Amino acid sequence: MNAAHGIAPAEAALPFAEAIGQFRAAHAAAATFTVRNPATGARLADVPDLGRMEAGHAIDLARKAFTGWAARTAKERCALLRGWHRLILDRQEELARLLTLEQGKPLAEARAEILYGLTFIEWFAEEARRVYGDIIPTHAADKRLLVLKQPVGVVGAITPWNFPNAMVTRKVAPALAAGCTIVLKPAEETPLSAIALHALALEAGIPAGVVNLVTTSRPGDIGEVLTASHDVRKLSFTGSTEVGRLLMRQCADTIKKLSLELGGNAPFIVFDDADMDAAVAGAIAAKFRNSGQTCVSANRILVQSRVYAAFAERFRSAVATLEVGDGMAPGTGVGPLINAAAVDKVERLVRDAVARGAKIVQGGARHALGGNFYQPTVLTDVRPDMAITGQEIFGPVAPLMVFDTDREAIHLANDTRYGLVSYFYAQDMSRIWRVAEALECGIVVLNSATFSSEATPFGGVKESGIGREGSKYGLDEYVEIKYFCMGGLQG
Ligand code: SIN
Repeated sequence: MNAAHGIAPAEAALPFAEAIGQFRAAHAAAATFTVRNPATGARLADVPDLGRMEAGHAIDLARKAFTGWAARTAKERCALLRGWHRLILDRQEELARLLTLEQGKPLAEARAEILYGLTFIEWFAEEARRVYGDIIPTHAADKRLLVLKQPVGVVGAITPWNFPNAMVTRKVAPALAAGCTIVLKPAEETPLSAIALHALALEAGIPAGVVNLVTTSRPGDIGEVLTASHDVRKLSFTGSTEVGRLLMRQCADTIKKLSLELGGNAPFIVFDDADMDAAVAGAIAAKFRNSGQTCVSANRILVQSRVYAAFAERFRSAVATLEVGDGMAPGTGVGPLINAAAVDKVERLVRDAVARGAKIVQGGARHALGGNFYQPTVLTDVRPDMAITGQEIFGPVAPLMVFDTDREAIHLANDTRYGLVSYFYAQDMSRIWRVAEALECGIVVLNSATFSSEATPFGGVKESGIGREGSKYGLDEYVEIKYFCMGGLQG
């Protein structure tokens, strides 16, 4: 151990080793759990395994800090968010490396995620100054009617392992901009990025108690404390629908404001008038980014019968060129899955599909690299009765399904409990409007695989969630509307 900072020798080479050591020292009494590199299985760091008591303490700190933080002017909060933004920008390369080490995604994707995460801080720093209320035309001569927007209070935030940086900033930045304080519980697989972001927030001068971090290997315990607390007035969660449902139930007793970004089952529809090159490139990006581990990953690729065979072959040969490897290695396009359970799930889904008649035309097995690596895979002849079409795959497997008519495509696309994003490729303008309006989802993407931005609303319908993140709507999730009726005014 480096006595000054409590850093074990193996951790010393890790980006932000000092911040990790300091966070551990701040919780010296707590047990620790180990964070591992999903590409190699190597131990990266030990982090505090905080429990119910520490979560309760974090809520107290957030409650005490709330009055002072909410009383700051919007301009002051904006300046502090900008300071945090600057420090992250300065250390973006270290943050990207840390992200790849703990999450596995290729370094180029990690670099893009850091920049993506930064856009939320910049956006909400600006939005902090635009939380306007209203003056409503009065219904009585002696009254004036106003609407005030006020911060919700203490926010509980639970973030996932697939975007360990950007999902933190997408919640913390709007909460702080609105004047809320926050208790953040990052995923147990990827707490290191959150520790680094937390350290930079403190370094930027964001007062202690405004952002509180609870790392843990027992997420259920912390979820129970956050949801049961009367002091936590809002919960924002990104993760599976299953856990979202549980948290929503747990929030019922204290009637919390809720934002839930849950699972998806994105259809990716290729119509017969699509630009085939663009559709193939789009399907690769929408399917294999982050090894298919995003809630907006193309989960079912629906192709019109007239172009099915041609698309399937071009897509298959593009998939065959994808390079699988450690995210830190130059040239890697597809990294490992997050853990052994994720590989087991993908294997199970592929096995079930094949048993029911699907054909493997590319990949279809664990990768020769072993561990958490799975081959980029293409399945054809997939039908709606196969398990792989009904749940999030969260892996590098592309199931291809065929359809004849637009009506059938829309029916297949909507035949799911999820409703986050739908992609489609087409040229005919009447078809484009018809399909875009008929798809049941929060986000429709035409002729592109990329769409996320700080300026646009991200969120789903049906069992994909409640609320929107990013955009001008994102701040509404962190404010309450207060109607102020001023009576007794003299004429
Ligand atoms: C997610 O998959 O949870 C987020 C993806 C995005 O923001 O683009």
